[in-house]
Amino acid sequence: MSTNLTKCIKGFADLFAPQSTMYTLMENTARSLFGLYGYTELRTPLMEHTELFCRGIGTETDVVQKEMYTFPDRKDRSLTLRPEATAGVMRAYIQNSIHNKEQVSKYFTCGPMFRYERPQKGRMRQFHQLNCECLGAKGPYTDAEIIVMLEVFLQSIGINDTELHINTLGCPQCRPQYRNALFAYLNQLDPQALCEDCRRRKDTNPMRVLDCKVPTCKEHTEKAPHISDHVCEECREHFSTVLSLLDEVGMDYTRNHRLVRGLDYYCRTTFEVLSGRVGAQSSIAGGGRYDGLVEQLGGPAVPGIGFACGMERLAMLMPEMKRHRLDFFIVSMGDAAQNFAFKVALELRNAGFEGEINHTGAGFKSQMRLAGKSEARLALIIGDDECFTKSVMVKHMDSGQQENVKFTELVEHMQKKLSEESIILQ
Ligand code: HAM
Repeated sequence: MSTNLTKCIKGFADLFAPQSTMYTLMENTARSLFGLYGYTELRTPLMEHTELFCRGIGTETDVVQKEMYTFPDRKDRSLTLRPEATAGVMRAYIQNSIHNKEQVSKYFTCGPMFRYERPQKGRMRQFHQLNCECLGAKGPYTDAEIIVMLEVFLQSIGINDTELHINTLGCPQCRPQYRNALFAYLNQLDPQALCEDCRRRKDTNPMRVLDCKVPTCKEHTEKAPHISDHVCEECREHFSTVLSLLDEVGMDYTRNHRLVRGLDYYCRTTFEVLSGRVGAQSSIAGGGRYDGLVEQLGGPAVPGIGFACGMERLAMLMPEMKRHRLDFFIVSMGDAAQNFAFKVALELRNAGFEGEINHTGAGFKSQMRLAGKSEARLALIIGDDECFTKSVMVKHMDSGQQENVKFTELVEHMQKKLSEESIILQ
């Protein structure tokens, strides 16, 4: 029999608890925190027309050239599983003429993305992003605000040891002069100084050479001209306001002249959050301004800025989750007791207690063993006597103490006992 039947696709993964619980926590924290800054959730399709990503991300990028999951549908239209969220959000914004309805629009998106990369620690073919996009605001305050919001988010999920790298990529007016200066510098290097990819990139997209991880390329571009020395007055002012706003709120950052990002839509402020604890893939979040993107995709000239965090990488950095304990575990003996237990469990769950009941008809000892294994705080024991008196034997698993409690008083009793216990545990 084919082993493919029982194995998921390479670079894809099943997420069980407690990992899935971490993802839920990240999503819920992001949703409520970004909500405080005015971001509302937008759910876009997982698949789009291939052309959207080619135009949006850029045909010369690694993502479009090597990493997309692209297939023809049954009518031979080329479709692609989204490798990132930004292009889809722009498509939704244009398609729904949002710019006619509001001046500034802020969207939060989360979910799976797909890139055909070589899987390794922190790098998957199906991975998950938390993504924010702000459209319609062009001033530097928005840049600083979104960067600060990202930092606050990281702290609120317990990540405090990252580094923020920031750069400006200029605008369509000043960037061509920088590209020319960089091209002239790269062109005078010995051709063997650059890797094969960079020899090609030098002519097609010279700024990508600065991002190459090959040591010889890094070494030979050390003295390459810096973009910040070539940007126009407006871009310089924009960037310096962003930096001074970050200084104002005491945010640490590193100005990184080599930060060019892997997607073609960026201009002006770009940033990445890095960590040394996620293996070779050190970037846990990245983003920047993309003022020409909406227009390039056929929409109005609306500026934009955004970022995305990789959830697999965030999960590697989050502190371990506290041991989660159930409130109760019900152990019952005999048919009548099992029926009564069924009713007790329903009543307790309706009252907001979290608990388990064993329906397998196992013996008393083995049910008590399961109660111990579940780490529930209380075992609720129901036998013939309890069934007859409509009561429950409540056993405190940590102290071993037990007491008989009337069914009608059980909810109140448990509220009292569990709140006393959580005060002691604090
Ligand atoms: P990106 O830098 O390509 O930017 O991806 C953002 C984050 O997604 C990365 O920092 C990383 O944490 C995570 N990531 C990327 N590829 C993988 C992978 N194969 N496995 C695991 N995690 C991965 C974007 O996607 C832009 N759309 C961000 C943006 C939004 N810019 C403006 N708005």
